[in-house]
This record gives sequence, structure tokens and C-alpha cells, in this order.
Amino acid sequence: MSTVFPVDVESPTCSTLQAWARVPAEPGPAQRTELLARCRDLLARENAVLVAHYYVHSDLQDLALETGGCVADSLEMARFGRDHAATTLVVSGVRFMGETAKMLSMDKRVLMPDLEATCSLDLGCPADAFAAWCDAHPDRTAVVYANTSAAVKARADWVVTSSCALDIVRHLKDRGEKILWAPDRHLGDYIRRETGADMLLWQGVCIVHDEFKALELELLKTEHPEARVLVHPESPAGVIALADVVGSTSQILKAARELNAPAYIVATDKGMFHALQQQNPGKVFIEAPTAGNSATCKSCAHCPWMAMNSLQGLVHALETGAGEITLDPELAARARRSVERMLDFTAAQKRAAAAPAGLVPGIGAA
Ligand code: 13P
Ligand code: SF4
Repeated sequence: MSTVFPVDVESPTCSTLQAWARVPAEPGPAQRTELLARCRDLLARENAVLVAHYYVHSDLQDLALETGGCVADSLEMARFGRDHAATTLVVSGVRFMGETAKMLSMDKRVLMPDLEATCSLDLGCPADAFAAWCDAHPDRTAVVYANTSAAVKARADWVVTSSCALDIVRHLKDRGEKILWAPDRHLGDYIRRETGADMLLWQGVCIVHDEFKALELELLKTEHPEARVLVHPESPAGVIALADVVGSTSQILKAARELNAPAYIVATDKGMFHALQQQNPGKVFIEAPTAGNSATCKSCAHCPWMAMNSLQGLVHALETGAGEITLDPELAARARRSVERMLDFTAAQKRAAAAPAGLVPGIGAA
């Protein structure tokens, strides 16, 4: 049942090659070896570090780890890029990840293998419409998911990722704040159910996670009673209701390492299976069902924009400086405030967890 990466690009089944994003051709073995060698040389020559997301091609994930970069969820990517000493960050992921890296490190050059790699959540939340919504609800705290443009972040009070959204909203609710949430309606609805916070939700979706099907997942669970179910919270409520663990990509990986079940049904982008299998060689990972072959290319459980990241794009960016992220400094400064609020909150949480009982440093100075 599980698909092992790299995907067979000749396969007639649904794949990102049929998606509307520009997905590069898979290099042949000799070209791949040559491209990997050029990437290693260029990263060293340009004093650059590769910051990759779990959904990009396994070659890019392996290259990032081998060359001292990182493979991480969107929160850790932001932190890693900010704290790393390299003068160039190459962000292999989607546009909002590059923009977040840039606003946190305006003195660094931030490159991406393809600047047009975007996200349906970002596309579905234009800055002017979001600002009008905020204007209509001045009594509410605007909390936005990291999967948004710098302009939307600049208008928000807080930025969150899926790994810290629950804790931050709980914190705001405890302070008596009412929330405007954008753009992912499934994640927002999940947080509203878990926290009981007063939240108005923007109606965006991730085109990848929105395709997971609860009914088919229930059937798959009966076929694999030994399997635990790991779900990313961008999935629909019916799928989340069947989960043993709901979490960000890093939290899904952590659960797979720490639980002792022999098998896992995983509802997130297929790109994750590379790290899941690498880190858990004795365990079996099964893809959660989407509408599959009976549906459109949107149902292939692989983000068409993450799939735009390639070794060819990485070489081109490092050789020519193409794919550089630029941000207006004033806009970046406003967006940075709400991102730093999130980073400060999560850092304070870590300190609190490490502190001896009774000594709990303050959290969230918004
Ligand atoms: P994570 O923060 O969990 O890595 O999610 C980012 C994303 O785009 C998921 O679709
Ligand atoms: Fe956006 Fe979904 Fe792709 Fe993540 S997987 S980048 S949320 S479209």
C-alpha cells in the first residue's frame, strides 16, 4: 500500500506531472550524480545553507542533511535559517517559507529553486481582502497561519504554524481575546474545537490535505487494526476525528519514532514518507486514502508547488542568483513582529519545559 520515493515518473497514476504547477523532469542517474556534485560545490562556494521542508524531493532532503542544512517543519525552518551563520539561505519549500526566512534575516541573501512555488492557502488569502476583514472586526486578535504572504503577516497580530497554533490560541483565549483566524478553515476549526476559543474562520483550504477521505480511512483502519493514524491538521474534521495523533510534520515524525505500533496510516503529503521510512526502518507506513485515481491530479497527496523544487533549480539559483526573495523593508519589519511573537512564545515554552518545577518564565509578551 505504501509508496516509496522517488515516485516513478513514468507511472500512469495520478502524479504532480499532471498538475498545473511547473514540475521539473526527473534527472537520469548520471545527470543526478552530476547535479548533486554541483550543488555541494556551489553551496560551499556561496557560503550557503540548504533549508528544506519534508515535502520536497528526497534528493533535496538528503542533500540538506549531508551539507549541514536542515529538513524540518515550517516553524523549525524559520528558526534554523534565522540562527544559521551562512550568508545565503537556500529555502527549498514554498514561497511563504522563503519570505519568512528573509524577513527574519534581512542581511542574508535568500534564494529559492523556484520562486513560483506557492501554496493554495497563500493564494486564497489576498492581503487587501484580509485587511478589510480585519477592519470589519477591530475587537478581534488576528491570528494567521504561516502559509500566508508577508503582506498578510504584516496585518496580523500573531503568526502561528501547525506545531504551535493550539498553544498560542489557548494562551490568547486565557487572556480573554476573541480571534480572527486565517486562512485554513480545517486547522482553524480543529483549534476552535480543541480550545473552545471564540474564532471567526477564513474559508481557505490546502488542496492536498483537503482531499483526504474519512470514510475510506475508516475502511483502511479496519484492514490494518494494528496501525496508528497520524494526521496533519490541515485535513478535514472527519479525518482528524479518526487520528491517534494530530500534528505538524515534525510532530508526525516524532510520534512515529516514539509510538511502538508496527504500522502507521499517515494523512499528509507523500514527501513525508522519505523521512518516516529513513527514521523508522522496521515500521510500515501506509498512505491515507484520497479520491485517488478516480479524481483529479489534486488528489495525488503531493503538493504540486513543493514538487517544483529540484536539483536543477537549486544549481540555477546558486549559479545565477535567480530565485532571490526580496521584501520591502518596512513591510518586512511589520510582518516580522508577528512572526517573532510566535518564535518568542515557543522559545519561552521550551525554557518553561526545561526549568525546574516552580520556576516558570513568562510566555507571550504580545
Ligand atoms: P508544517 O508546518 O507542519 O511543516 O506544515 C507546512 C505545510 O505547508 C503543510 O502543508
Ligand atoms: Fe500549501 Fe498544502 Fe502545499 Fe502545504 S501542502 S504548501 S499547505 S498547498
